[in-house]
Amino acid sequence: MNPQSSEYASVRTVYWDAGQLCMIDQRLLPHQFVIARYERYQDVAEAIRAMVVRGAPAIGAAAAFGLALAAQQSQADTPEALRADLDQAAALLAASRPTAVNLFWAIQRMQGLARQPHAEVNALRAALLAEAQALADEDVAINQRMGAHGAALVPDGATIIHHCNTGSLAAVQWGTALGVVRSAFRQGKQLMVLVDETRPRLQGARLTAWELIQEGIPHKIIADGASGHYMRTQKVDLCLVGADRIAANGDTANKIGTYNLAVVAKENGVPFYVVAPTSTIDLTTPNGDAIPIEERAPEEVTHIDGHLIAPHGAVAGNPSFDVTPSRYVTAIITERGLIHPPFEVNIRRLMEQD
Ligand code: MRU
Repeated sequence: MNPQSSEYASVRTVYWDAGQLCMIDQRLLPHQFVIARYERYQDVAEAIRAMVVRGAPAIGAAAAFGLALAAQQSQADTPEALRADLDQAAALLAASRPTAVNLFWAIQRMQGLARQPHAEVNALRAALLAEAQALADEDVAINQRMGAHGAALVPDGATIIHHCNTGSLAAVQWGTALGVVRSAFRQGKQLMVLVDETRPRLQGARLTAWELIQEGIPHKIIADGASGHYMRTQKVDLCLVGADRIAANGDTANKIGTYNLAVVAKENGVPFYVVAPTSTIDLTTPNGDAIPIEERAPEEVTHIDGHLIAPHGAVAGNPSFDVTPSRYVTAIITERGLIHPPFEVNIRRLMEQD
């Protein structure tokens, strides 16, 4: 398959087909477009850990379908026995990655459904699959609503700095921060996206640039360290980033490097928007210090595409996320609308709305 073909823009990142979970293998993009198929929840957990699938909403949907697979795999012949098997599967899926709260949110939603009374075990199996499918469909609709809210903030002719990949590939389809870019572009606005390459795994250079090419959106990949230079020397209208977890006070965990970008944006008077569904807001986490930050293998830093770029014996640290204190955030764009400071009050208010 030619990975540059625009037909891939319509393929969901995570979907169900013929009793299997299908996912775009994001480790192979942009040079190969391969759909990986899963029949065992254990393999889905490993795929999340290995980042076949990545991005907060996408891993939430993958985990939900993973539990639907677990229900299929289970030999249980009563709803109670099936619930016990699901708890085991949920524990394994939950251990796959620690920072993105959408993973735990999706697992809890599926377990909540499993706890509802079901007279018959196969009815529960069917209900779990329907719930995973509903979660995935809702994710697309939610992203499009965020896109519409966010696009209103993007002026025609805007230059936007974007970090990581927050597009279709990070969700089921459309995307969060990149979904806002997509929505604004489809409204006919002229845009220039400065794409942070996003070391060490290069989600920007590999995945965001691939999505922007498919949409025909003008862009320029920049080294992460170049964003400050652009903001100081040229007109940059706004920064758009996603989130893996937003604490109750508005502190936000996102891909490593987001904090640096936010600080430099504030220094240069550039508005800094976090785009995330309400499923990324975690009211049980009071502030950013309480968000678990994933530390990944040092080889992600010392190697590129399997090639050692550092000296033999060099030691590397690899925090995969950082926390941006809420004072650097101009507003949070959700599917229910914008959240402005004071975040502590306004996040809770929005979450309490039906
Ligand atoms: O390690 P990743 O690639 O899963 O990290 C993804 C991000 O940090 C995204 O910015 C985040 O999930 C929000 S986008 C939907």
